[in-house]
Amino acid sequence: MFAFGACYYPEQVPESFWETDAKLMREAGFTVVRLAEFAWSRLEPSDGVFDFSWLDRVIDLLGSNGITIILGTPTAAAPPWMFSDEMALVEANGLARIWGSRREYCPNSPLYHHYSVRITRAMAEHYRDNPHVIGWQIDNEFGERCYCARCRSAFQSWLQRKFGSLDSLNERWGTVFWSHTYTAWDQIPAPWSRVHAPHNPGLLLDYARFMSDSYVDYQQQQLTVLRDRCPNHFVTHNFTSFYYENINYFDLARPLDFVSLDNYPRGFWDLTLKTPAAAAAIAQVTMRSLKHRPFWVMEQQSGVAAWNTFSSSVRPGEVRLWAYQSIAHGADGIVFFRWRSARFGVEQFWQGILDHDGIPGRRYDEIKRMGAELQRIGSFIQGAEVRSEVALMMSYDSRFAFQIQPHHPEFSYASHLVHYFNALHGMHIAAEMVSPDDTFSSYKLVIVTALLILDQQTVSALLQFVEQGGIVLVTMRSGVKDQDNQVVDMPMPGLLSTLCGIEIEECDALPPQETRQLNFVDAKATTEARASIWCDIIRPTQAEVIATYGEDYYEGRAAVTLNRIGKGSVLYMGTAGSEALIKTVTEIALDLAQVRSVYAHGSSDGTEITVRWQGERRFLFVLNHGRETSTVRLDKTYTDLLSGQVFTEVVQITPRQVLILTEDS
Ligand code: GAL
Repeated sequence: MFAFGACYYPEQVPESFWETDAKLMREAGFTVVRLAEFAWSRLEPSDGVFDFSWLDRVIDLLGSNGITIILGTPTAAAPPWMFSDEMALVEANGLARIWGSRREYCPNSPLYHHYSVRITRAMAEHYRDNPHVIGWQIDNEFGERCYCARCRSAFQSWLQRKFGSLDSLNERWGTVFWSHTYTAWDQIPAPWSRVHAPHNPGLLLDYARFMSDSYVDYQQQQLTVLRDRCPNHFVTHNFTSFYYENINYFDLARPLDFVSLDNYPRGFWDLTLKTPAAAAAIAQVTMRSLKHRPFWVMEQQSGVAAWNTFSSSVRPGEVRLWAYQSIAHGADGIVFFRWRSARFGVEQFWQGILDHDGIPGRRYDEIKRMGAELQRIGSFIQGAEVRSEVALMMSYDSRFAFQIQPHHPEFSYASHLVHYFNALHGMHIAAEMVSPDDTFSSYKLVIVTALLILDQQTVSALLQFVEQGGIVLVTMRSGVKDQDNQVVDMPMPGLLSTLCGIEIEECDALPPQETRQLNFVDAKATTEARASIWCDIIRPTQAEVIATYGEDYYEGRAAVTLNRIGKGSVLYMGTAGSEALIKTVTEIALDLAQVRSVYAHGSSDGTEITVRWQGERRFLFVLNHGRETSTVRLDKTYTDLLSGQVFTEVVQITPRQVLILTEDS
């Protein structure tokens, strides 16, 4: 059964509603419901006193309606009886978070650990043999950095384990600068990146790593309990999105059975209705890539997003379209957020599937339609893989390092990477994210964007990949620093110089909004292909010049280069670049790698085409996110799994329509 359902908060409605809720859920084709991840005060009303009776009753009721259960450990929001200043998260400005919202805890608080492990253990022991419970979600969307005194001393211990000696730490952070040489571990602060009084970059990068490790370790505490008590249940966590960057998500994902995403294509700031399909796709692709396997969506948008302000409404067809988009990129489970709209609390305007009146409306009908469809076709798709020939390298160390030193007011690591993702997405080319320590020999093209923090191992892997015929596209600011956030003592791009066949003589950070003309040697580019944000002034040592700057004191100097090594090639792109430039350079890389677009082409920007493979059977997902009917050209005859219609050569797809095309009927 394809996992399909919603997040349900039975503790927020009168028990008399439950029966109707369960019936409506069954009729909508639900197979799963997530419960309890914010119900700590109902599960443990006072210290050590547990009450699972209400949860037992609702699980029994849902179970008797054929619905399985994912339980959330409720540790993202602590009840007031439990919370004390001792466990409060301290923000970078030194202020302790005041209890009364959620996510207020310090991830290194032993007392919080004690309570979290205890409730997890109590729940695990109570539900280990419950026939309806199938798995767990740990906590909810970890978490922000804490700067409390306890974290500071935990950080000092973490550093002792990492460096062994203060001499080594002093050397690797370069603490001689500004007289920061430490003579005792307890002198080391919990640092933060203030604009006018920044801390040492090595110290800051290690603090980011330490905080990420703190959440990974905290998750592990609960995971250990769940693995021990509930060996037959899966365990996951709901990850925020591609853009969340306080935690190394590769590390967080590693010990889990699968990754879950909270997917909100239209957030409460979004009144544009123009959110491109690619913006949601990048989160889905990231989640799939964290373990290189199908993921779940644990919270899929089902209506207006609203806390204190509202998003535009979710248009008819969008709930279903967005949910299918998640599936198109590798989701094996769709759990909508949330079943009913809450009448109270911070999220009282956030729309669930049902409105406040509880009367099923168009969003319920849409989801019900999808539930029926998935009962028919879910088994074809479940477990099907997405295959990519292109990898985008995503480095959390580099993301952390750019948080510390953004380089330019218009630059962000995330959006720089997103531009390349968008270029591929626009050409219907599947991409997979890889971490620098992943193996990437199975790809044809690896795009390495702004890999500021680089180690020798990654360089060797890239070199081997290229020698054996791989294509690498490296962008600006790669290779500038070592693992300790020190700038390397060699010409830029540092350890990548030989691979790229270039040396960078100078860089020019462009004034905001300014661009520079760029000329392609073979005149391939359009006038929109312009340099922006940053200009590396490149001296090729081995590489040939692909494009030069067309103005400023570096007019005529190389901006984009190509180096042939062994059987492969390395492109270097020395600027952030306009959309047209990124597209052109990506196309050059794809040509070199001989990567072709999938078997269909849409005529409009809003058309998204992806493929999932079940063994050798292909499923082509064609989705129209645009407002116009789009024409899609096909390479052969396909049958739409949803409608049974057969299409040859060409298919018209109306706005918000979904096709799942397969070669066999
Ligand atoms: C998610 C969160 C949910 C809910 C939702 C809507 O990020 O996990 O608990 O808050 O947003 O705001």
